[in-house]
Amino acid sequence: MIATHVPVGPPGHWLAGHLPDFRTDRLGFLTRCAREYGDMVPLRFAHRRILLVNHPDQIEEILVTHSKHFIKHFALRLNPVILGKGLLTSEGDFWLRQRRLIQPVFVRTRIQSYAGDMVALTEKMLAAWKPGEACDIHEEMMRLTLAIAAKTLFNAEVGGDAHTIAGAMAVMQDNFLERFNSILPLPLWIPTPANLRARRAVRQLDDVMYRIIRARREAKSDEGDLLSLLLHARDEDDGSRMTDKQLRDEAMTLFLAGHETTALTLSWTWYLLGQHPEAERELWAELDGVLAGRQPNVDDWPKLKYTEMVALEAMRLYPPAYVIGREAITDCVIGGCAVPRGMTVLLPQWVVQRDPRFFDEPETFRPGRWGEERMKSMPRFAYFPFGGGPRVCIGQQFAMMELVLILATIARKYRFRLRPGVTVTPHASFTLRPSPGVPGVIEARSP
Ligand code: HEM
Repeated sequence: MIATHVPVGPPGHWLAGHLPDFRTDRLGFLTRCAREYGDMVPLRFAHRRILLVNHPDQIEEILVTHSKHFIKHFALRLNPVILGKGLLTSEGDFWLRQRRLIQPVFVRTRIQSYAGDMVALTEKMLAAWKPGEACDIHEEMMRLTLAIAAKTLFNAEVGGDAHTIAGAMAVMQDNFLERFNSILPLPLWIPTPANLRARRAVRQLDDVMYRIIRARREAKSDEGDLLSLLLHARDEDDGSRMTDKQLRDEAMTLFLAGHETTALTLSWTWYLLGQHPEAERELWAELDGVLAGRQPNVDDWPKLKYTEMVALEAMRLYPPAYVIGREAITDCVIGGCAVPRGMTVLLPQWVVQRDPRFFDEPETFRPGRWGEERMKSMPRFAYFPFGGGPRVCIGQQFAMMELVLILATIARKYRFRLRPGVTVTPHASFTLRPSPGVPGVIEARSP
């Protein structure tokens, strides 16, 4: 294919390019670029050439049609020690083999067995809640999804191992961000204080993970958790199983990729519901109708349609993964633009999912839109909170079930109100986090 279009972008600093603008206000910068320069915007982060892609058709070309021309972007390779060669970061034949091994673990029928744990752990959290008391609902959601991830992945209780893992991961994420934001990231082996902290965190992670794996292998028991399923997964072609190192990398990846993203969606959902009583009333009407006062269970998941729409709409406005990055490994042409080998493409959910060309009143929280006929003709990649193509989120169904069951379990009894005078803004870090959390009050809801 021949390139027919030469896109134009904003002027940048002679050395750092657009990195300072991006660093100062990622969401604002990406939005301004899209609104002022269109669907394909060339940028530069220091020596790296970047193409910002803001149209669903070209996003589909990159993620699906021409996915073979791309690998994950450079930033993911900045931090190889934490996730190792897990699904999120590996490439090529190795990734394909691992994906084939792990995919069956995430089919709908398998993950349904975790619904009971999800509801039980949510009820356990609710038992400690005191209506009328101030709380940060984001912290509550982080603790809850951490407990669910620990239980469903490792059959571990929160308190011991799960806390060590989460703490060490937080250190690694900070280290990653620091390196991502610098023009010349220092390699991890240079003993700066931040790198020493990161290396200590990795040692802690490895100690816990290898101990859990060793114990599971020695006991030869099937704990019914995801780790047991991974331990027994066999390659269809040669019958081989995963080594301890592969198990460690995949378990870490699932833990990291799974718990914060889900907590963020829930936090943003409470934030939005607290300001939209009409949506909240509709949610209650569904919960009262379907559940009639009892706890939800896995059979309710398909019936809780509005509850699901609430989660979908929250992820449209506040996608936990707000931008996806890829790097071209061959010269190619996308949307008529030349994309040379080595160029990074950025696909921003934050921008596209708020584009008025694809969504009426794009800034408005209106879960009911997901039931409208017009949404069926929306371009496929106008909404992609879970990515798409071969690298689509493997935990999508798991996350949707978790979101619906947690929302239903909490909202049938409680509502959340933001603390008056507090302004919550999205902070585009590794993921899209609410700043300064989501402080407010939990109130009991009358039936
Ligand atoms: C609301 C919750 C979630 C969101 C928004 C989300 C989002 C995403 C996105 C956007 C990607 C694609 C990244 C890319 O293409 O570069 C992805 C990949 C991935 N996600 Fe999720 N995710 C969620 C929950 C989960 C859960 C619960 C798990 C596991 C238990 C999980 C595991 C993974 C893995 C392993 C990958 C890499 C897949 C591959 O490359 O083959 N995610 N996720």
